[in-house]
Amino acid sequence: MRMVDIIEKKRDGEALTKDEINFVIQGYTNGEIPDYQMSAFSMAIYFQDMSPEERAYLTMAMVESGDQIDLSMIDGIKVDKHSTGGVGDTTTLVLGPLVAAVGVPVAKMSGRGLGHTGGTIDKLEAVDGFTVEISNEKFIDLVNEHKIAIIGQSGNLTPADKKLYALRDVTATVNAIPLIASSIMSKKIAAGADAIVLDVKTGAGAFMKDLEGSKQLAQAMVEIGNNVGRKTMAIISDMSQPLGFAIGNSLEVKEAIDTLQGKGPKDLEELCLTLGSYMVYLANEASSLEEARQKLVDVMNNGKALETFKIFLTNQGGDASVVDNPEKLPQASYIIEVPAQADGHVSEIIADEIGTAAMILGAGRATKESTIDLAVGLVLNKKVGDSVSKGESLVTIHSNSENVEEIKNRIYESISISDTKVDAPTLIYTTITS
Ligand code: URA
Ligand code: CA
Repeated sequence: MRMVDIIEKKRDGEALTKDEINFVIQGYTNGEIPDYQMSAFSMAIYFQDMSPEERAYLTMAMVESGDQIDLSMIDGIKVDKHSTGGVGDTTTLVLGPLVAAVGVPVAKMSGRGLGHTGGTIDKLEAVDGFTVEISNEKFIDLVNEHKIAIIGQSGNLTPADKKLYALRDVTATVNAIPLIASSIMSKKIAAGADAIVLDVKTGAGAFMKDLEGSKQLAQAMVEIGNNVGRKTMAIISDMSQPLGFAIGNSLEVKEAIDTLQGKGPKDLEELCLTLGSYMVYLANEASSLEEARQKLVDVMNNGKALETFKIFLTNQGGDASVVDNPEKLPQASYIIEVPAQADGHVSEIIADEIGTAAMILGAGRATKESTIDLAVGLVLNKKVGDSVSKGESLVTIHSNSENVEEIKNRIYESISISDTKVDAPTLIYTTITS
């Protein structure tokens, strides 16, 4: 087989065989196929797309390019949730303990945040002592005994994807649905998921800014999952404005604690109950989505979800007393309000702009090497659709620097106030099951 022939075939819109796709991915991973050929190949896919079969072959070729996590020692169906990135997305912190409390095994491998989106590990490290540096044995034991553990990304998972994603980044080929879908799904499958629930975000803070593109991406991932024997469902959820109120590590841990008790922001709670219901249902812990949802509401109300969160933190070295005393989480030195400059109705809170403001404050990373300040961030006091009076606080800034003029300006630029009444945006647009 010759790479040049395969590029030509794809360039002309023909479907590739499994052997051809394996040849490309293996050759690229071990360095036999150079970047320039892989660039041309990616661009051919960008223009010619891939059939459902080709997408499944590509995904599995990337899964097989490196280590695969074996979770077979863990009892039950391991359901993983993946969100395609967002601002102030506190769902993973809530969903883990929430579904574990009804018996779904949560064996999660997680990463750190980059740019305007936050990472789950960063958020959890706001809890003093908490660590994801645990052995595989301990990870498996904890999930079997307590239904939940989180481990840091380790080993050589999907090296083909790492290399290809970096190449796509500099060759204008990131935004191709077959490439995005196979990239995301390969990582979930290599991490050992039996079933996958996807939260595909749409809107300004999302990877896919428009609904049509988000639907196509969700459909592509669900199709790949089901074609390679992993039950997969997706929802499309709003990321035009940030989710919940809090953006920033400590602030989001506090928000998760509130939500686990049914006292959190309503949009975050609703999204967690919806995603959680699918997880419980796919894990066979309920025979219908309604029953699954009721189980989740019950553990929110009877304290079991919160108790599970405490046990989870303690198991991984964390100081669980923060759950009852959230003021023990890292606190910022300056709390500064951003008052509305006019009466009216909040019509827009541009998620990625707010995420960038939080990042500049120190809550996120501009580059992989940046260090983050766990204490700082933003709390929205108003969301789209709320009415507001001049002088009322729109946002509270939690900062470790007194000088927040730039942040304030950015916040004013990303929030619009209109004279006329505005509806809150739709939170969940659609569900895709096959
Ligand atoms: N996220 C990924 O992991 N891969 C992509 O290709 C795009 C977003
Ligand atoms: Ca939030």
